[in-house]
Amino acid sequence: MENEIIKCIKERRSIRRFKDDDIPEEIIEEIIEAARYAPSPENRQPWRFIVVTNRHRIKELSNEVKKQIKRILKNKWRWKRKYPELRENDLLLFLRAVASSSKDIIFYNAPAVIFIITKPFTFNIEACSCAAQNIMLAAWSLGVGACWIGFAKFLELNKDVMEELGVPYGYTIAACIAMGYPARVPKASPRKPLAGTIKWID
Ligand SMILES: Cc1cc2nc3c(=O)[nH]c(=O)nc-3n(C[C@H](O)[C@H](O)[C@H](O)COP(=O)(O)O)c2cc1C
Repeated sequence: MENEIIKCIKERRSIRRFKDDDIPEEIIEEIIEAARYAPSPENRQPWRFIVVTNRHRIKELSNEVKKQIKRILKNKWRWKRKYPELRENDLLLFLRAVASSSKDIIFYNAPAVIFIITKPFTFNIEACSCAAQNIMLAAWSLGVGACWIGFAKFLELNKDVMEELGVPYGYTIAACIAMGYPARVPKASPRKPLAGTIKWID
């Protein structure tokens, strides 16, 4: 029963190692075109896309994320209300490792990063998440690897960076996707068994 779409969904992987090649602009546009076809409440299409392809800029953004993580860790008591996960020791250790790494383990030296921004409004984040999934699947179908970068959300903590990125006042980062041609495709991450995730009501 498997068709091309289901195959693409099942074979997609989060890619964290990229070749040095840039992604041609028309391919990025094609991928964002697919995002525009995502469903949205009342067909509101609440998304806007910011594409960063300047590698120096991407590196700077990566350093900024690390800076913000360090700031949070320094005052973790104050941040615990906004980020309850900071109560977990394993996460604290992980964040410390991420923030102090000299490598770009935020955007993985990707040649392109797409920010999906939106105004905070009912279901806008959900719609943007649909657009983000379209991006990752369309990218995969064209041989481009992608990874959703949740860490990019920390950029919101620096208003100047948001302004430099051209994020209008009152907008939020709904999703961020790093993209490039895969240098390594990892094994599939395990999925929970289907039976345990479904409850049938007939
Ligand atoms: C909302 C969200 C945030 C994520 N944030 C990150 C991130 O900051 N860094 C990262 O390397 N992967 C991130 N991921 C990717 C997940 O780690 C990945 O999807 C998961 O491990 C399953 O692997 P797969 O996508 O290859 O199936 C994120 C995924 C989602 C949906």
